[in-house]
Amino acid sequence: MAEDLTIVKGNKTEQYESLIPQIRGLLEGEIDLIANLANVVASLKEQFNWLWVGFYLVRSAASKDKNYELVLAPFQGPVACTRIRRGKGVCGTSWEQARTLIVPDVEKFPGHIACSSLSKSEIVVPVIRNNHVIGVLDVDSEEWNHFDATDQKFLEEIVELINFN
Ligand code: SME
Repeated sequence: MAEDLTIVKGNKTEQYESLIPQIRGLLEGEIDLIANLANVVASLKEQFNWLWVGFYLVRSAASKDKNYELVLAPFQGPVACTRIRRGKGVCGTSWEQARTLIVPDVEKFPGHIACSSLSKSEIVVPVIRNNHVIGVLDVDSEEWNHFDATDQKFLEEIVELINFN
């Protein structure tokens, strides 16, 4: 496996179409989940240079009153909140509703959790396995209205490439 990414210019589709085969290559033959998540977010950061890109995984809650919550996993960008409850923020809502959420203006999303004051728009893609959400991929941009159906399509495709077992 080549360890250097080829970064391309071009429209979003061209960028994703260049990156996805490279992500396949990075994942090939490696079974360690943390290593794979780390390389996926690093490659997305290198290609798109978003403010923040990373995973939260559904894990046992720290407090006894909640069974499960999202816990911070490999990411690239500023430090972030470590735990998010189901139904809270964009990530917790994506988990609860088991669907991708595109938020053009984070200030207009009720309950948005502002990990960075620089974040203006966001997309959260749930990771669904055996009909259960087991985590989310969260991406934040410093620009308003940065994410659209193209990001949704390709980010959902990327999440499907990862073996979470
Ligand atoms: N904004 C997210 C929290 C995670 S950070 O953006 C990295 C949310 O509202 O769920």
